[in-house]
Amino acid sequence: MADIKFNEANQKKFEQLLKRYPQKRAAMLPTLWLAQEQYGWLSPEVMTYVGGLLEVPPSKVYEVATFYTMFHLQPVGKYHFQVCRTLSCQLRGAEGITAQLKKRFGIGIGQTSEDGRFTLTEVECLGSCGTAPMLQLNDDYHEDLTEAKLDQLIESLE
Ligand code: FES
Repeated sequence: MADIKFNEANQKKFEQLLKRYPQKRAAMLPTLWLAQEQYGWLSPEVMTYVGGLLEVPPSKVYEVATFYTMFHLQPVGKYHFQVCRTLSCQLRGAEGITAQLKKRFGIGIGQTSEDGRFTLTEVECLGSCGTAPMLQLNDDYHEDLTEAKLDQLIESLE
């Protein structure tokens, strides 16, 4: 793997970030986010790099990265479906949404399709309980889902 290092733009963002915190280690979440934006996921090498930047051991970085579902610990597909499985969504059909995606892409939860296009994960409440069931596809929410709406959404993807 090529050397892990922020590109120029992200290095600048990182330096700006550091100014906002009294200690380097306090910038852990936004730094991990920046690293994920650049690399798509947080490999052990990327976490080690972040640890070096923030002067904390890689094990500490790993602890934080594994705690938050927004961080990817393995590569994700071009389209990342994150289905909310918490109570409101569960009561309003989240299981059916997940089952539909599994069947459509031929993958299980936590897996990526062979062509690298689709990843399916289940996540806890995304704060949109009033429009359950819902999912997050990359950066966007899709709410009040039905089987037909989900089909339409999948068809619209390139
Ligand atoms: S329970 Fe699904 S968004 Fe809150």
